Amino acid sequence: MRNPHDSQNLALVTTPAVELEAEADLTRCGALKDFWYVACLSTELIAKKPLARTLFGTQLVLFRDEHGRPAALRDRCLHRNARLSAGDVFHGRIGCPYHGWVYDASGAVVEVPSLGPQQCGEALDAQGHARAGLKVRPCDLGKLRRFDTLEQDGLVYVFMGGDSSRARRPAFRVPYWGHPEWTVYFMVTRFPNGVTNLAENFMDVPHTVFVHEGWFREVARKRVPATVKRFDGSVLVTYGQEQDTVTGLGRLFNPGGLPMVHTDHYFIPNVTRVDYMWGDRSGFAINSQITPIGPTDSLVYTAISYRLPYDLPRALVARALRPLVKWYTTQVIRQDVDIMKVQREGLLNGSGGGVFSGTEADLLHADIEAYRRWLLEGGLGPGPGDEERDIVFWI
Ligand code: FES
Ligand SMILES: [Fe+2]
Repeated sequence: MRNPHDSQNLALVTTPAVELEAEADLTRCGALKDFWYVACLSTELIAKKPLARTLFGTQLVLFRDEHGRPAALRDRCLHRNARLSAGDVFHGRIGCPYHGWVYDASGAVVEVPSLGPQQCGEALDAQGHARAGLKVRPCDLGKLRRFDTLEQDGLVYVFMGGDSSRARRPAFRVPYWGHPEWTVYFMVTRFPNGVTNLAENFMDVPHTVFVHEGWFREVARKRVPATVKRFDGSVLVTYGQEQDTVTGLGRLFNPGGLPMVHTDHYFIPNVTRVDYMWGDRSGFAINSQITPIGPTDSLVYTAISYRLPYDLPRALVARALRPLVKWYTTQVIRQDVDIMKVQREGLLNGSGGGVFSGTEADLLHADIEAYRRWLLEGGLGPGPGDEERDIVFWI
């Protein structure tokens, strides 16, 4: 006999939780574009070199204007569509590598070398120009699409949704940036997966005992109670297991064996922040800002912030340990890159990719998906309501 809930269950399990294509397409991503996204590190944008970046499938060229401020333009010359990012930057302007058209930071054409010193057509009259669809002067040629930019906490952000006064949130602040007690460094990693799957991975404790076995946590059959709080466009998970230990570098951060306070926090649409604190003198925060390149490719800007409990010259100890911390975090990130590739291979294998199932341990992922789906569909109304629930899972 047919179970009366069958049709309902069927409807539930065939709805994709993640729509990879739409989420990473500027014309279909709804309100997901109405946020600031990291385009590069400040240190990557040097004076004379343009930088090519792809966000939401759209190619941009980034460079610094004459005041050193970041500029972002569509990476396609108005003339014959060559990529401007293959050109040069001089005096805050960018020159196309093909015929040398020069653009300023507003996207306006300011020089066309073939027009000579007058910068004006000489032989054809106005009608002759118009008949052939040609322009007389550089200023008649129109403008490249430009995107608003912002530089903050060592990062260059770009706004893909038009006028940035429409941004739904201010750009995310890097944890402990500029705090003298803390050391902060960045890692930039290309991940072979989309934003939703990456945000879920960065907030996911159960995978650590499999993907990072021996590096991070060991399988110890521990029961982990946690509280999942969904509020104000964020999902905060507070883990209630005080004896939780992280192996590897954990011992370095916690020589006194203090209880560890662990929280994971997701912020719409693309940011996660993981904090481990031992007492008030030692901590480790991993902040990941995920920038969509395309459906299954992202650039992740990870800020690692840490503070060590040792008394004597703290900065010296932190600096001395930096290569070790960096090496360790690189290994852990590599393992996540590999598993995200494995997930991508499954997702793209035939139809039905993106249809997920889960248990109590996946409540936080369902919350992330609810927020992202709401934004994908235009982000109208107040969005998913506030909720606080307890869960238990085992690692
Ligand atoms: S294609 Fe850019 S100047 Fe010709
Ligand atoms: Fe991981």
